[in-house]
Amino acid sequence: MVMAYRYRKYHHILRLGLHSNMNVTRKRVMVTGGAGFLGSHLCEQLLAQGNDVLCVDNYFTGRRDNIAHMLSNPHFETMRHDICFPLYVEVDEIYNLACPASPVHYQHDPVQTTKTSLIGAINMLGLAKRVGAKVFQASTSEVYGDPTVHPQTEDYRGNVNTLGPRACYDEGKRCAETLFFDYRRQHNLPIKVVRIFNTYGPRMHPDDGRVVSNFIVQALRGEDITIYGDGSQTRAFCFVDDLIAGFLRMMATGADVTGPVNLGNPHEIPVRELAERVVSLIGAESKIVYRPLPQDDPLQRCPDISLAKRLLDWTPKVDLETGLLQTIAYFAQLLGVPARKA
Ligand SMILES: NC(=O)c1ccc[n+]([C@@H]2O[C@H](COP(=O)([O-])OP(=O)(O)OC[C@H]3O[C@@H](n4cnc5c(N)ncnc54)[C@H](O)[C@@H]3O)[C@@H](O)[C@H]2O)c1
Repeated sequence: MVMAYRYRKYHHILRLGLHSNMNVTRKRVMVTGGAGFLGSHLCEQLLAQGNDVLCVDNYFTGRRDNIAHMLSNPHFETMRHDICFPLYVEVDEIYNLACPASPVHYQHDPVQTTKTSLIGAINMLGLAKRVGAKVFQASTSEVYGDPTVHPQTEDYRGNVNTLGPRACYDEGKRCAETLFFDYRRQHNLPIKVVRIFNTYGPRMHPDDGRVVSNFIVQALRGEDITIYGDGSQTRAFCFVDDLIAGFLRMMATGADVTGPVNLGNPHEIPVRELAERVVSLIGAESKIVYRPLPQDDPLQRCPDISLAKRLLDWTPKVDLETGLLQTIAYFAQLLGVPARKA
């Protein structure tokens, strides 16, 4: 069933002609997964830029608390909807972020993860084609699998285990990219594909099993810090504000820029060092304990962001300590504990 839903409140171009400085051109922008970690920050920035924003989410991993502060804004609208079902709304731009992103969430219902990636992409691409919208895909560094080249450039084709427990996500995102490029070739659709590397910041899930949130929550609770493997595996962490700035720059590029473009912070640190930084910033007394590495967990992942620098004039600006302190403050408030132990 095609859901007929008119995004009716605003006109495409709203002109308030009383004074010349009141001329406003508002874009109608839809964000799928808008109540999630990245989506809620993106909605905020899109509102700040003067757009009308429609957040579409089925709240599988997203939370209404993430968007509560925007609900009173007349230019913000939300819709509970699963993108595996078609949707018709008149919009100018679509950011397709809907998909559980952490292994614990996407492996919870792997078939639904694949459906969200594929059927969701088909629905969003179909909508974009129908209403003539630009469409942006939040792809992932997971398309590189357990990479054999470092750092990863966009032309590296990846090393993914098609049968493993991460494949529902990795292969789902890979095929979604294929769909985006086929819609581009077949229908000349304006597409924007970015490959996101590890991102952290306020509004991450406290129980999503990702290293940054795990370490912070464990340290704030005074629990042992769990490292999977020996901690020598490296990760590169991008603060959410930097990433969202990259999204907006990508969407603003001309039709010839399709991506895929890597977005992430190329500054690598070993996971063990991250744990030590978190413990020291919180002043916690937590011990570090080691557990076996999960299947298919990549040992190293680091973006080559030369293309983003060249095409978008984009580089991450927020250093790890600044970003960690903001994230710690968020989790401390969520857990109702002080951000810094005495
Ligand atoms: N955070 C990262 O480090 C990272 C890295 C690589 C890629 N990404 C991609 O960025 C996007 C956002 O990730 P995030 O970290 O904000 O994750 P998140 O889980 O916080 O957000 C995903 C959102 O999508 C919603 N959702 C899931 N399935 C849906 C469906 N079928 N229909 C409608 N809504 C649905 C969830 O409820 C949630 O609000 C995802 O597509 C993810 O694959 C994120």
